[in-house]
Amino acid sequence: MKKILVIHGPNLNLLGSRETSIYGTASLESINAKLEGLARQSGVVLVFFQSNHEGDIVDIIGKSGKDGFSAIVINPAAYTHTSVAIRDAISAVSVPAVEVHLSNIYKREEFRHQSLIAPACVGQVSGFGVQSYVLGLSAAIDLCA
Ligand code: DQA
Repeated sequence: MKKILVIHGPNLNLLGSRETSIYGTASLESINAKLEGLARQSGVVLVFFQSNHEGDIVDIIGKSGKDGFSAIVINPAAYTHTSVAIRDAISAVSVPAVEVHLSNIYKREEFRHQSLIAPACVGQVSGFGVQSYVLGLSAAIDLCA
């Protein structure tokens, strides 16, 4: 079975109680459970990883090819706007990545309008809440078919 790596960046462990007017009330566990449902139907295996540490995210992306992943779904959270290291890690591996955001980053503060990660990804889904993850995973499943 194909394996997809789902990466959640900093502060996404706080979903459910974090700025609910922006990010909604779904917890990270409930988002992961929803993605598991889609994965089961589609015959792919998901591995979830959440970290508040840039280097840990760089490390797991860097070994994603060797670890047998066929695609990555990543919400880089605040690192979207700052991390050359995560962008370079995605560019360094031949595993296609899909960037997702719960909120529409282009409708928010100006510093969120730039994604350093997007140019290294196949595409980006932004602004659909939990559905951004579902759409992103669906795209990732197609990429590894
Ligand atoms: C986010 C948007 C980022 O700007 C922010 O730093 C996050 C979450 C989103 O999913 O909407 O932590 O990636």
